[in-house]
Amino acid sequence: MDTLIGRHDETSRLAALLDAARQGQGGALVVKGEPGIGKSALLDWTERSATGFLTMRASGAEFETELPFAALHQLSSPLFDRLPALPTPHRTALEVAFGLDAGDPDPFLVGAATLGLLAETTRERPLLCLVDDAHWLDNASVRALAFLARRVAAEPIAVVFAAREPSGLPELDALPGLSLAGLAPRAGQRRTGRAGGGRTGTVRRPRPGPGRRGGGSGLPRTLRSAHPRPGPADRANARRRRSQALGGRLRSGCRAVVGRRDRDARPQAAGRDRPATRQVVVRPPPGR
Ligand SMILES: Nc1ncnc2c1ncn2[C@@H]1O[C@H](COP(=O)(O)OP(=O)(O)OP(=O)(O)O)[C@@H](O)[C@H]1O
Ligand SMILES: [Mg+2]
Repeated sequence: MDTLIGRHDETSRLAALLDAARQGQGGALVVKGEPGIGKSALLDWTERSATGFLTMRASGAEFETELPFAALHQLSSPLFDRLPALPTPHRTALEVAFGLDAGDPDPFLVGAATLGLLAETTRERPLLCLVDDAHWLDNASVRALAFLARRVAAEPIAVVFAAREPSGLPELDALPGLSLAGLAPRAGQRRTGRAGGGRTGTVRRPRPGPGRRGGGSGLPRTLRSAHPRPGPADRANARRRRSQALGGRLRSGCRAVVGRRDRDARPQAAGRDRPATRQVVVRPPPGR
């Protein structure tokens, strides 16, 4: 998806972060919001907009939250060949953190070494670090990445996190934040494919998890009002309207396929529910 709808202010803020980093004034931003509201889409936009940057990307994973430095390892592994350029205490700190050497990792040294490793690359070009699903980061990585994010002001480095709200991570709450609100109704309708008479609509709806009461859909309020949860009478009315709109073709052989595709079939942790995608496709009968 190339075009973001209704996110002018947010993309302006991210573009300003990139521009400042290009000038050697680094910074960090935490994009926050509920599931499905468009955090990853903004990270993707930032990556596409970061012309001339070296981009490094990592993502918190639900099944790695208990593995110290898992996300930091993911982010910095493409730079391991630069480890020998670091001062010995920093190199050792990272080798210990990533299990390449024995010992207890020193959080301060790991943070400082990460900054040193990333700064090594900025001799050639500015650096963009994108950390998606930060609410699932392991604690050791959160600490190291927040340490890094607080110290890039004098480096050509931009760091952007995306996290669900509340993330439960005070380290991220202390960084500059960008809270996403729901899209305006018209933007919401376009985003879900309902404008312009399109026949395919996709609505992401988080499944209720243990930490979520059954009533809330989790969709932005504006999208929620565009897509109220239908009852039996609503569904019968919708079928009738659709049939009329298609000139009775539904009855005369047009097939309606209603599918449900889970984005991720992994088991759910408490309060960390994943969205599912519902897709409705109306296909004309063969030969039309
Ligand atoms: N502004 C937008 N314009 C067009 N499409 C969008 C926009 N924002 C989000 N989308 C689309 O909506 C869907 C959900 O967005 P996205 O995956 O970015 O949500 P998220 O906030 O990262 O969710 P999660 O918390 O589950 O990671 C995606 O298909 C994305 O492409
Ligand atoms: Mg996401």
